[in-house]
Amino acid sequence: MTDQTPVSYAGPERVLSGVQPSGALHLGNYLGALVKFARLQHEIDTFIFVADMHAITVWQDPALLAGQTREIAAAYLASGLDPAKATIFPQSAVPEHAELAWIFNCVARLGWLDRMTQFKEKSGKHKERSSVGLYTYPVLQAADILIYKATKVPVGEDQKQHLELTRDIAQKFNHDFEAPGFFPLPEPLIQGPGARIMSLRDGQAKMSKSDASDLSRINLTDDADAIAAKIRKARTDPEALPDTLEALALRPEADNLVGIFAALGGESKAEVLARFAGQGFGVFKPALADLAVSALSPVSEAMRRYLDDPAEIDRILGAGALKAREVASQTVAEVKARVGFWGA
Ligand code: TYM
Repeated sequence: MTDQTPVSYAGPERVLSGVQPSGALHLGNYLGALVKFARLQHEIDTFIFVADMHAITVWQDPALLAGQTREIAAAYLASGLDPAKATIFPQSAVPEHAELAWIFNCVARLGWLDRMTQFKEKSGKHKERSSVGLYTYPVLQAADILIYKATKVPVGEDQKQHLELTRDIAQKFNHDFEAPGFFPLPEPLIQGPGARIMSLRDGQAKMSKSDASDLSRINLTDDADAIAAKIRKARTDPEALPDTLEALALRPEADNLVGIFAALGGESKAEVLARFAGQGFGVFKPALADLAVSALSPVSEAMRRYLDDPAEIDRILGAGALKAREVASQTVAEVKARVGFWGA
């Protein structure tokens, strides 16, 4: 019997993730992604980028895009990312991402991309009018991750399918080019109550930058009054909070608010219920508003401070891009040699 176990990746652990500069950041981005970045940088070599090449898969005003990129960088810094620890850079400043994405376009199969639910959601009824980039977007995401041979990818739940595709591409590349263990099979870091923050207006819909109602989300730039008002107006049911997670799961809006409370306070939902079971939203919402304001105000203040000094942000992004390119160009050189390109 032959041993069919694939040779596993033996390189060092590395974290990589990114956020698109395509609109105001909200609480879902913060709890699903940003807070995890800041935590992980103390444990593992961490690369965090601004996904501006992903952002242009839908129209972005050229006059605003660089400013939006600085805003995401400011949010990273404000939520605790330290450029002395983590490598922070704009995706478009490392052109090797696009080079590897092309090669991966030739590894990934159409059938794999046809299954991607995010393309179906984003293209809606007008698939034929979507950009080709929107369709092949998850392949660029695989290149973002694998170019750094990242092993861990902190993301919200909505990115799970893209991570599965990344693993499929890594596995097929390793197999087709007889390079066992060349790319790692990266693991998504999704767990925790912040992984899927829902709209404040509809417990069945994800909190999203593109929701028409600003009341559906808490933006990182909202002031204390706006945060409190949005929580006060959040949709709920008339019943008191239950004492079990099973009962909570049957009430999506209540479940979401308890999840937000847990994620903001670094607790589990069970711990929050242990304190608030039997209480109505008249008690729970003001407590949640206080917690949200005290957790988010320092972040939005720090973001404003960083944005007052765009030259410093540009310096950090430029230095990060140089560091990132060192790693990325090495991987692309190795990949080109494996593929058999002339001169590689
Ligand atoms: P983006 O810009 O849509 O979102 C950034 C991060 O925020 C998370 N997120 C949420 N988490 C919890 N609840 C929510 N309601 C919520 N909404 C968004 C997302 O899961 C994500 O982690 N394709 C990515 C960007 C990207 C990327 C990558 C990420 C490009 N290349 C490589 C990781 C690795 C995206 O569009 O994220």
